[in-house]
Amino acid sequence: MCGIVGYIGNSPVVETLLESLQALEYRGYDSAGVAVLNGEGVVIRKRPGKLKVLAEILRENPIDGKIGIGHTRWATHGEPTEINAHPHTDCTGSLAVVHNGIIENYAALKEMLSAKHHVFRSETDTEVIVHLIEELAKSYPIAEAFRLALKELHGSYAICLLSKQSPQRLFGARNGSPLIVGIGDQESFFASDVPAVLSHTRRIVYLNDKEVVELSSQGPHLFNLEGKKERLKISTVKWDVAAARKGGFPHFMLKEIHEQPSAIEQTLSGRLDATRGRVVFDRRLKSFLEGLSSRQRLVIIACGTAYHAALVGEYMLEEFARIPVDVDLASEFRYRGAMLDSNTTVLAITQSGETADTLAGIRMAKSQGAKVLSICNVVGSSIARESDAVFYTHAGPEIAVASTKAYTSQVTALALLTLYLASLRKRIDAQKRRSLVEGLAKLPQLVDQVLATEASIKAVSARYASCRNFYFLGRRYNYPTALEGALKLKEICPLIHAEGYAAGEMKHGPISLIRKGWPVVFIATHSPVYEKIISNIEEVRARQGDCLVVASESDTTIKRHADSLMTIPRTHEFFSPILAAIPLQLFAYYVADANGCDIDQPPNLAKSVTVE
Ligand code: G6P
Repeated sequence: MCGIVGYIGNSPVVETLLESLQALEYRGYDSAGVAVLNGEGVVIRKRPGKLKVLAEILRENPIDGKIGIGHTRWATHGEPTEINAHPHTDCTGSLAVVHNGIIENYAALKEMLSAKHHVFRSETDTEVIVHLIEELAKSYPIAEAFRLALKELHGSYAICLLSKQSPQRLFGARNGSPLIVGIGDQESFFASDVPAVLSHTRRIVYLNDKEVVELSSQGPHLFNLEGKKERLKISTVKWDVAAARKGGFPHFMLKEIHEQPSAIEQTLSGRLDATRGRVVFDRRLKSFLEGLSSRQRLVIIACGTAYHAALVGEYMLEEFARIPVDVDLASEFRYRGAMLDSNTTVLAITQSGETADTLAGIRMAKSQGAKVLSICNVVGSSIARESDAVFYTHAGPEIAVASTKAYTSQVTALALLTLYLASLRKRIDAQKRRSLVEGLAKLPQLVDQVLATEASIKAVSARYASCRNFYFLGRRYNYPTALEGALKLKEICPLIHAEGYAAGEMKHGPISLIRKGWPVVFIATHSPVYEKIISNIEEVRARQGDCLVVASESDTTIKRHADSLMTIPRTHEFFSPILAAIPLQLFAYYVADANGCDIDQPPNLAKSVTVE
């Protein structure tokens, strides 16, 4: 979703803002703009399209200055045109605002402000913010006008304000949408996310909802919405710039696919006791899980890829820890009147920790007395901060819109939780536990082995690159893998329609479309339902469908059933969703690449969906 940045310091502001916006491109956007304050006043440049279009305009008509704000817009209210692009200005052009989120009462505010002769140019909800500040600034100093305006807004926002009246300060605030402050050497930043400031500083302030910041080159001053000063909490992030750059790969997605052995290793790090063959957690997580173990129900909520990890978790937790689990899409959970109480634990799974529906879901759960645990990648994100306990995956920054390493590390986290809870609830014997713990420890090495088959996956992908419809079918633990494989392909290859199904459901609909050459991707690794899925493959072949099968490399009979093969090392079914996801990620990547798709930033999609 929208990315916002702000800069105050001694470097040329336009270059700095563009560099920061570039680091936020992964969030998805359809127009971009900057506002800079200099001797001429507030100067704006904005354009629909990619950042390079804006950069070109700025090259032709440069702007000097040391303070400014920037934005990449993902349209919600109004088409992605130049007029609707941010920054938006007040009637006099001396204030400029960038915003991420949705102002729900914008229509009422617009009516009130129009009656006071404010002239609106765009169709956006954002424009009301800047006119509201302008109106209040007639009676109050700008800092106060900003704060009072925020109190009038309903909905979600991260906002940066640039004001001609205040050339040495930028203003920012958040409520429901992410905003961080970066503190550098004689320079300060606002940004939606850490990668935007990493090349300048690792000293970060994560803002909480309803916090307001006045930013000078010397750093931030923090206030609440009542204007009361608050204490700053500065964190030092460990990510380095290289981790947030492509590192020689043509796309972030491919880089992140290849980072999976180390991402999984990070998720496992410090959590396996090889000597005793068990999973260990820190004190906080341990005491939370002791409570969870005695509560009656576990509800897992998530969106997108994280939802598929949640479905794998359901199979794991019910089979091994024998805990009743419900899995819900966060966007449904929050509106369906779910029955929760103090006997329920809600587990939120999220890479970004900022997904609006997941965040709203945990807030609702807490208000009904449930306890909240999250599996989260981004340290300090909203969901992590609002959870009663957090299991950080530590997979490192994930930039590509299509999630890869975050997914396999989420499933790894679920495997760790399962073994821990199974042991706590005495549902697993020591020998079985030891063998699964040993399996977990070997995962990074097995993932490396799958990645070593990349060339053959690429060749297989070339065979299917011109197909426009796919089914992905799996059973049990690999039913979610089928959903995830289909999602990867449709996320990054907009030319293709792909659907994931439980293979047992094939006869209830999908089979009606199978005809000569129709591609069906099966996950047929070793499992108690192996024979059943072979039957499903044969049913497709009987109708002349084309079967691409993900199978165990030790499987000597599968060749008889498959038109094309991708293999993974033979492993316990418990780990197979992690290994089987990888050929499907590479398959989607190479099919999309062969079709010339914009892999890291597919149209209409955003990395972090911060509006509902
Ligand atoms: C978007 C992203 C997906 C992600 C989903 C949930 O749709 O494009 O990759 O799985 O949001 O995001 P979260 O950060 O909550 O895991």
